[in-house]
Amino acid sequence: MALKSFLIIFTSLFIIITLTCIPRTTYAIPFVVFHGISDKCRNKGVSQFTELLSNWSGSQGYCIEIGNGEWDSWFMPFKKQTAIACEKVKKMSELKDGYNIIGLSQGNMVGRGILEFCDGGPPVRNLISLAGPHAGIASVPFCGSTVVCILVDFLLELAVYSNFVQEHLAPANYIKIPTDLDDYRKGCKFLPELNNEMHRNSTYKERFSSLQNLVLIMFEKDQILVPKETSWFGYYPDGSWSTVLPAQETTLYTEDWIGVKSLDEAGKVKFLKASGYHLEISYGEMKEYILPYLVENGQRRLPDSYHVRPFSGLKEATIKLHTSN
Ligand SMILES: *[C@@H]1O[C@H](CO)[C@@H](O)[C@H](O)[C@H]1NC(C)=O
Ligand SMILES: *[C@@H]1O[C@H](CO)[C@@H](O)[C@H](O)[C@H]1NC(C)=O
Repeated sequence: MALKSFLIIFTSLFIIITLTCIPRTTYAIPFVVFHGISDKCRNKGVSQFTELLSNWSGSQGYCIEIGNGEWDSWFMPFKKQTAIACEKVKKMSELKDGYNIIGLSQGNMVGRGILEFCDGGPPVRNLISLAGPHAGIASVPFCGSTVVCILVDFLLELAVYSNFVQEHLAPANYIKIPTDLDDYRKGCKFLPELNNEMHRNSTYKERFSSLQNLVLIMFEKDQILVPKETSWFGYYPDGSWSTVLPAQETTLYTEDWIGVKSLDEAGKVKFLKASGYHLEISYGEMKEYILPYLVENGQRRLPDSYHVRPFSGLKEATIKLHTSN
């Protein structure tokens, strides 16, 4: 009899513990991925990346496509790309309690566009940025010789800050020529607003500063982003090509235009360096640099097996997250 009561109590306790604890320990908020230029969600690199991180973290990952992917990533201006992405995230009920954004290269412009400009969008918790051109780029990403590139080259022959180019060549929206800042401030249709460069909109800053973590991954051998330090908000000084200033010495930071400084002082900005070329990341680096932010409450809950050290001497599995023409 005593044994029977014990078993009943034990079983009930077991069920209660299971029901109350399991859902919480495995709880992870979803994440969305925005791919880079010339790419699309269906391509192997991006889909594998999204699926691996989903598998490892136990959280649902979605790659959100804007327009048709490749073509629109070159030719649709960012105001429009952002507006489309904003409508998409608002329609996804899975995101309503919060989600993380992973931006790949140019996809960071969309990710930040949503974070800052998307009125009524679901709350963004962490922004994990791989090779993001946050402070601008000083030359256009290499294209190649496809039909797309012929059109790109044609547009680049025209004035980059003209209305026409701004409306028809997406990367023109974040090109910042350090020796042509007057034209940039007058003509560039996206980055100055995104970085609160001229008109400081406190709403954008508030939204940006509300991030739990801003994870900035720079690729040591990046040859696409000029300068590669833009991934950390570093850039050329105004009016000069001389040196690249570290983020902390830029006006964006010292005057805290959008909240990078506030976040940094609160210990919420992670400046991380991956060892490869543009968007070439190893599984070890993904586990070390990205995964902790996809798992609720960070590192503490990661099983030991997740802490794989990169650069262990063994040739590691690597993902290339960009297509080359
Ligand atoms: C993710 O997990 C599923 C189910 O176990 C598996 O079929 C798939 O191959 C995994 N994806 C990757 C990219 O490893
Ligand atoms: C700042 O941005 C918000 C949100 O988009 C907008 O409602 C507001 O009008 C903007 N304020 C200024 C001064 O431009």
